[in-house]
Amino acid sequence: MYDVFISYRRDGGFETARLIYEHFSNVFGMKVFFDLEELRSGKFNLKLYSAIDESENFILVLPKGALDRCVNEDDWLRLEILHAMQKEKNIIPLMLNGFTWPDNLPDCLADLSKYNGVTLNREYFDASMTKLVSMLRGVNITTNGVFRKQNQERRENPYHYLSDEERHRLYVQQELMKSFDCEVYDRIKSTYDKLYILDVGSSSGDLIMDRLGRHEKLEKLIGIEYSEEVVKAANDAYGEENRIAFYNVDAESQQFPARIKEIMAEQGIEGFNVINISMLLLHLKTPYKLLKNLRQFLTRDGIIVIKDIDDGYNIVYPDEKGEFNRVMEICSRNETSGYRQSGRQIYTLLGRAGYNDIKLEKLGLTTIGMDYDEREAVFETYFSFVLGDLLIMKKRYPNDKRIANDYEWYSTTYEELEEKFHDNNLFFSLGFMLFTARR
Ligand SMILES: C[S@@+](CC[C@H](N)C(=O)[O-])C[C@H]1O[C@@H](n2cnc3c(N)ncnc32)[C@H](O)[C@@H]1O
Repeated sequence: MYDVFISYRRDGGFETARLIYEHFSNVFGMKVFFDLEELRSGKFNLKLYSAIDESENFILVLPKGALDRCVNEDDWLRLEILHAMQKEKNIIPLMLNGFTWPDNLPDCLADLSKYNGVTLNREYFDASMTKLVSMLRGVNITTNGVFRKQNQERRENPYHYLSDEERHRLYVQQELMKSFDCEVYDRIKSTYDKLYILDVGSSSGDLIMDRLGRHEKLEKLIGIEYSEEVVKAANDAYGEENRIAFYNVDAESQQFPARIKEIMAEQGIEGFNVINISMLLLHLKTPYKLLKNLRQFLTRDGIIVIKDIDDGYNIVYPDEKGEFNRVMEICSRNETSGYRQSGRQIYTLLGRAGYNDIKLEKLGLTTIGMDYDEREAVFETYFSFVLGDLLIMKKRYPNDKRIANDYEWYSTTYEELEEKFHDNNLFFSLGFMLFTARR
């Protein structure tokens, strides 16, 4: 995967193309595809097509007369541009001194001049580069110059409960988050006489059992989880006839509301006064739909509790070499980590789905005041899973050099980061968010 593909004509374009390549790679740490001048002689190199496919952005360097030869059907630049257009890449023409749009541009390239472009001004090179970067898709530069790229959109839920390791990680997270969420769960326990709970994305059931499931007021606890294997484990561990049951349902499927109704009828439940959704929405493609679907099952006096994350609230200081930020950047890019800007959407989604009295109960889990073991748990919760995810990504995309590089870098840096993390003066904040709302 590349951030940028640089397309250029050898005569007049090479020098600028190389400058951009160096600037983007060295200053911003981006992954840039820039094939060497020598490769550009002879027959068109078909490998260029796959490099374009793998790049989100296509920068087209346009020196004087660059497009004149595009009338020829086998012209390299023409082939590259057409491919980028077909694949709907973010095409940015970079116009150099003396370039003008030619009158004889073939019809298939006629739309090219409609793309937003940048005029490169040698005197103001840095300003031109900043403008260029601001137009890139899927890339942004933080104030300290660290390049970050995030999953731009929600995808088909890629989360899979995999192993004992994952269960252990969730357990550590669960323990760690006690101080974060216990206030809300304690309030729930004291508010209601009887608890009718629906936990969506319940995984092994460990979390909901720990927070509410063992309470004497518990009447019914229904867990929903789409991994069959995990549902079985949860039922084996916690299932109680007529009281606690986990069901294999996909929360995003069309049948979801009908399935919940069936389960409620089967269990003799009229409504839930607690609906709990912990660390699930970030893995969903259509969280709005789920929230809207769930509202009908919440009693008039009931409460919905949502825990989620937003990497925009992740902060680490000091990070002189940008290593911690690099890990966070890797995390935001790994599809396995879910949609890392999920947290900021929840207030809006709840409102749109018809909920009232929406509260942000907690924002950000910081290391301030934590003892050694708690810090260790934070490190384990966040940093260890990035390493595990990279391993999964490496298997999924064996030809992706960036993933391979990230994995190699991270596996050799991991211990050093762990040590630095135990510095008492390090400030680290993770963007966990806890919302509640009413029907
Ligand atoms: C990150 S875990 C969170 C587990 C638990 N709620 C917690 O906070 O510890 C998310 C769980 O949601 C499940 N999940 C993901 N997408 C789902 C879907 N569409 N329907 C039901 N469960 C889903 C995953 O299999 C996984 O077990």
